[in-house]
Amino acid sequence: MSEFTLLEVIPVGNILGECMLWDEVTGCAWWTDIHGQRLHRYHLADKQLQVFELPTRLCAFGFIAQDERLVCAFAEGFAYYTPGTGELDWLTQPEAGFTGTRFNDGRVDRQGRFWSGTMVENAPATDAAGNTVTGSLYCLTGDQAQKRLGEIRISNSLCWSPDAATAYFADSPTGVIRAFDFDAASGSLGNARDFVRVPDGSAPDGSVIDSGGCLWNAHWGGGRVVRYSPQGDVLAELALPVTQPTCLCFGGPDLDLLFVTTAKENLDDAALAQQPEAGHVFVYRTPFKGLPESRYRLA
Ligand code: BGC
Ligand code: CA
Repeated sequence: MSEFTLLEVIPVGNILGECMLWDEVTGCAWWTDIHGQRLHRYHLADKQLQVFELPTRLCAFGFIAQDERLVCAFAEGFAYYTPGTGELDWLTQPEAGFTGTRFNDGRVDRQGRFWSGTMVENAPATDAAGNTVTGSLYCLTGDQAQKRLGEIRISNSLCWSPDAATAYFADSPTGVIRAFDFDAASGSLGNARDFVRVPDGSAPDGSVIDSGGCLWNAHWGGGRVVRYSPQGDVLAELALPVTQPTCLCFGGPDLDLLFVTTAKENLDDAALAQQPEAGHVFVYRTPFKGLPESRYRLA
């Protein structure tokens, strides 16, 4: 018998569902459909789904400790966004001069900084002078974004160990999730090592850390979510009825439910006929528990 029980499928049919986050204050799961330009908020107890239409593609976001805005990485850069009023305040667009890149994965770290990385969406990506460029990982504090890593094709998998001593990050096409020594006080990345390599035919997409310090990763193309020990050993596997899971979080009143976003982009008619639930959100009961999501601290 599987240790996972499918509780719900939320039939949203996202093109590219991403950035699944649980808000324990309101009892809601939040996620974005990047290409659909929609933000979703799902109130678990009464099964109410609210959808916010966006003026541009939202790729990653985090909750703010002091108010109800979200700190966001839209395709073009960082902004605060207020669901409900739709107010959008741009902070900084570090790749404004580039053609062919966009923001992708992101998360608030345990000290309240927001991190997000870019990806090459249309290769070759170029700068204003026509030189080829790659993606980067940025750390946002205040209205300043600092570049922390470069030479990236697709930023994914950002998360931090419970003690914040380790940061995890993947450049998805490499197939490897890397683990970095992390200086929580300064927010700097130190020595890096390969943490895990995912099987051929899949790419490491979104990750989250559970209460035991284990890392859960969505294997894009592999149709599964895998739980890894802090040493990188496979501890559990959850097979999904769709091939492209993208991001995940623990939620529910006891933080023991696993919410998984998925994507239907790049699937042709034949593939979609085989996995008609592609793009939906899946909710499983697990014997594991997550950690509350960290919130962004305004300066
Ligand atoms: C990106 C997709 C990409 C996928 C697999 C996602 O995070 O948004 O564009 O295809 O990762 O690498
Ligand atoms: Ca992702």
